Amino acid sequence: MLRAAAKTLYSTSVSRRILLTLRHFSKKTPRKLRVSEAISGSALGADIQVSGWVRSVRSQKANLFLDVNDGSSLQSLQIVASPKLNDPLLTFGSAVEVRGTLKKSQHQKQPVELEAEHIHVIGECNSVDFPFKIKERHNLEYIRQFPHLRGRTNAFSALLRIRSEATSAIHSYFKENGFLHIHTPIITSNDCEGAGELFQIEPSCPESEDQNFFSVPAYLTVSGQLHLEVLSGSFSRVYTFGPTFRAENSQSRRHLAEFYMVEAEVAFTQSIQDLTKVMEDVFRWTTEHVLARCAHDVDVFHKHVTPGHRDAVEAMLKERFHVITYSEAINILNRSCQTFTFPTNWGCNLQTEHEKYLVKHCGERPVFVTDYPYRLKPFYARDNRDSPEHTAAAVDLLVPGVGELCGGSLREERLDLLRARLEEVGLEDTYSWYLDLRRFGSVPHGGFGMGFERYLLCILGVDNIKDVIPFPRFSHSCLL
Ligand code: 4AD
Repeated sequence: MLRAAAKTLYSTSVSRRILLTLRHFSKKTPRKLRVSEAISGSALGADIQVSGWVRSVRSQKANLFLDVNDGSSLQSLQIVASPKLNDPLLTFGSAVEVRGTLKKSQHQKQPVELEAEHIHVIGECNSVDFPFKIKERHNLEYIRQFPHLRGRTNAFSALLRIRSEATSAIHSYFKENGFLHIHTPIITSNDCEGAGELFQIEPSCPESEDQNFFSVPAYLTVSGQLHLEVLSGSFSRVYTFGPTFRAENSQSRRHLAEFYMVEAEVAFTQSIQDLTKVMEDVFRWTTEHVLARCAHDVDVFHKHVTPGHRDAVEAMLKERFHVITYSEAINILNRSCQTFTFPTNWGCNLQTEHEKYLVKHCGERPVFVTDYPYRLKPFYARDNRDSPEHTAAAVDLLVPGVGELCGGSLREERLDLLRARLEEVGLEDTYSWYLDLRRFGSVPHGGFGMGFERYLLCILGVDNIKDVIPFPRFSHSCLL
């Protein structure tokens, strides 16, 4: 009996100890949540810990209020604390760790708030020197000067979340539609576009002055197209989405030296309409996805940066995109009363001013321009041999506010025609492997490339391409 009593006493004290330890443990180790998870309210009543950067500090007699943001959502988490927890180091921009209980908020502005028991300043921020000021809405041009800090602003953090979501949507479009994702190389020995806008690469400390590292001149890729063409010859539908490089000495608002391109290649296609369908579908799918999944972030742009742009985007999605031929485009330009800086005769390249006019002519809706003069297009473009004017089966997609968003073409799959063209431009030896693709099971095929930053400009209404990429590279600028 004594033994049984001792056993009961022992087990009760053990379970009490376990309970106390558990209580202690749960007090000591609150759940670590991201701000977006805390705001979702799923952990109401729980002891939690969040970490982030202070977006505002309001010290009142009864309470100290902080807004803390960790980049996981546009909305910050409101922290309510006793004035006793105030600390002179708690300033706008400082990094903090806060522990407390997640409560339902009395205010409509936020569903929940964190009643803080403990606030720890992890990283101080001298708000006098910090380039962003509390409660001020800085414009994109201003924040661009601080590429190492601009992720802390509402506008740029919204942009980067949208960019990330658009990237996922693009991958999901291609996955759902049977395309294989290919990692095309960044280092290449070819100049796909033949425009000579290449960055040549060499080791910074060459072992021997007169030998190329790769034994041939090597460059940063201007396009993954040729590598995609290789693999469309075994997988039929392939795509890539990666950085591309152009040594264009341009200071324009729509050119970068490093930009991201979405490129697709489709085998067994004989019509440019098969390509325009994919271009239009990628645009719609991605835009609808972004508008639905990033509504608050998109509103930062559509309400504050480019007010009214939401209507323009919805108008773009309402109807099928227009299609005109290059010859029709030239007629439209020549009939217009606008004076253009660049010539508009048949055979001329369409310039931004022409592209913008054509988009306006089509009611500020996206428009495909097809069948460009053969001489304007690179060696790979398919010759429209039956056309009265000598054209290529090439297409550009022009969109409001930007001009050219996509460029694509059917590729010349006929060995004799391709060989003749390569001989004409003196590239038959360089591209003997490309000719092989036409010798061993050649099929009609085509593809296109879409500039990802230009896509973001188009849907957000932002004016300068440097504001839609984390670290812009352009001539005379390579910050960070
Ligand atoms: O028209 P582009 O030069 O086409 C190609 O490179 C093809 N090889 C693609 C293919 O068929 N796979 O470039 C495609 C798109 C342009 O329409 C434009 O949106 C974007 O890439 N682009 C640029 N974006 C930012 N900065 C630049 N310097 C750009 N150059 C082209």
